[in-house]
Amino acid sequence: MANTAPTQWHFLSRSLHWLIAVFFLFAWASVELHESYERGDPMRTWWMVLHFSIGLTILLLVFARIYGRAKHPRPQLYGGRWQRKVSLSVEGLMYVVMLAMPITGLAMRQFEGDETLVFWLFKIPAFVQENEGIAEQLEFFHKELIWNTFLGLLVLHVAGALWHHFGKGDATLRHMLPWSKSE
Ligand code: HEM
Repeated sequence: MANTAPTQWHFLSRSLHWLIAVFFLFAWASVELHESYERGDPMRTWWMVLHFSIGLTILLLVFARIYGRAKHPRPQLYGGRWQRKVSLSVEGLMYVVMLAMPITGLAMRQFEGDETLVFWLFKIPAFVQENEGIAEQLEFFHKELIWNTFLGLLVLHVAGALWHHFGKGDATLRHMLPWSKSE
């Protein structure tokens, strides 16, 4: 049967892939920067508002990315059967953690009983009953478990892309580059 897979990722998927990558970097940087200010300093709150806003934007971008992924077929996957399975598992898990990060962040705020200011434009009120125990669990998921799982997956994801590009010399990385042309 002829291979009808496209020769690169759809423009929507490529754009969102790199946009989400940059936004993750900003989400991490904003929460790290808030740490450099003492409690009570307005700049500490300012960085956290940016963190919430970027994080919630990521949630929307990931939904759009999943839509793009479902709507447009992916390009060819290279490698043997088990390699393709590993690639798809890492990709699938990355979608899960990319959704879980903002969701647990917002849920943490909710169970802390705090409203969440978004881009200084509007507030998401606390809808649920305050519960310190659940908030602490969510904090552990957000700051430790899911975040470190994400970092582990990211290492595998980047290593895989570089291995395909420099080790195997196939088009895996080129499929995702913003400037890549159809082969
Ligand atoms: C993909 C999006 C997000 C990423 C990558 C992310 C990443 C992180 C990381 C790495 C930390 C831990 C920082 C540290 O302990 O050094 C953190 C803390 C936190 N995040 Fe997020 N986050 C995201 C979205 C959100 C959202 C949407 C909210 C709330 C609406 C949120 C609320 C918080 C809060 C309250 C903390 C604790 C800050 C503190 O300990 O003072 N995050 N986030």
